[in-house]
Amino acid sequence: MFNFIQLALPLIQAPMAGGITTPQLVAAVANHGGVGSFGFAYSTPEKIHADLVSAQSLTSGPINANFFVFSPVHLPSNQIQANAIEALRSLGVDGAQSLTIPAEPFYPNLMEQLEPIWKARPAILSFHFGLPPDGVIAKAHALGIAVGISATSVMEGLAIESAHADFIVAQGIEAGGHRGQFDLLAEDEALSTLALTAQLAKHCRIPIVAAGGIMTGAHIQNGLAKGAQAVQMGTAFLCCDESGTPPSYRHYVLHKQDRPTTLTNAFSGRPARGLENTFTRTMQNQTTLPFPIQNTLTGPLRQWAVAQNDAEYQSLWAGTAYAQARSMSTKDLMQQLRNEFEAEQ
Ligand SMILES: Cc1cc2nc3c(=O)[nH]c(=O)nc-3n(C[C@H](O)[C@H](O)[C@H](O)COP(=O)(O)O)c2cc1C
Repeated sequence: MFNFIQLALPLIQAPMAGGITTPQLVAAVANHGGVGSFGFAYSTPEKIHADLVSAQSLTSGPINANFFVFSPVHLPSNQIQANAIEALRSLGVDGAQSLTIPAEPFYPNLMEQLEPIWKARPAILSFHFGLPPDGVIAKAHALGIAVGISATSVMEGLAIESAHADFIVAQGIEAGGHRGQFDLLAEDEALSTLALTAQLAKHCRIPIVAAGGIMTGAHIQNGLAKGAQAVQMGTAFLCCDESGTPPSYRHYVLHKQDRPTTLTNAFSGRPARGLENTFTRTMQNQTTLPFPIQNTLTGPLRQWAVAQNDAEYQSLWAGTAYAQARSMSTKDLMQQLRNEFEAEQ
């Protein structure tokens, strides 16, 4: 079974759903001392199988397959649906004019998505937004697969430990992408990565992985100093040669560094952190549909923006420390992180 001790660098490249975590990125991280992760949240079983086979042909290192734990959701009233569509059409761009309300099913069937996992048996299976259904963790363990789950509070961390998962990803408020909180109605304590890591390390016995704003070898050491056994880094890999980040998105991460990041639910219906752009500013306080219906609703607009090379209407998920992202091969980034990490020891 996977153990963090086997890593040359105690680092998980974060799963990033939406085409960023290519087999080439995942394999390069796993070949250079870390864990490479796939963000399979919205992927079909066929795509999951193909990506795992492809990565496993490129590496025998540790691979993590990550999924969202979706909660049952219903469409709100016709009036709210009409307001949500109108808010997007009012953006006034071509890509928003023909959007339509999504039909059921509103999210993929997790048990079907997991079928290729039981066959390919990656080293790690991980979940975001909550605990997987009963029996999933035991099945993973029976097949020698370790399980990790994101937490944004000590309460969530304790629930993860009670469910017999193997590690907790401590996701701080600095983190790019969706906040992994289990219950959207509960108050968000918004703890920083280092504060949450320290609290989880104090209250839980299973390993803690610090995530959020970690960009350098010195940052990795800071996470370990608070009691983490490893770190999870997403934004740091966005501009690697092997990642699937669209060129216009990369350009903003590397060259629009005066922009703040913001937490918005306007793209998906759930809070997620990314670079502020015209979409996040204009959609503030507008009606949105619940997660992930809003995500499906805005999908064609975001794809249109990618095709137009227009980053003002894409979800530019990135953590608060995005200005430290490096544009280079994954191999070189892993080597630089390792050098920085060892220099701090
Ligand atoms: C573009 C992007 C997509 C993400 N998608 C996922 C995902 O699919 N599953 C997940 O567990 N976390 C996802 N995250 C969050 C990461 O797991 C992690 O918490 C975050 O990247 C850490 O902060 P950092 O981006 O500052 O390194 C995503 C993050 C980014 C930047």
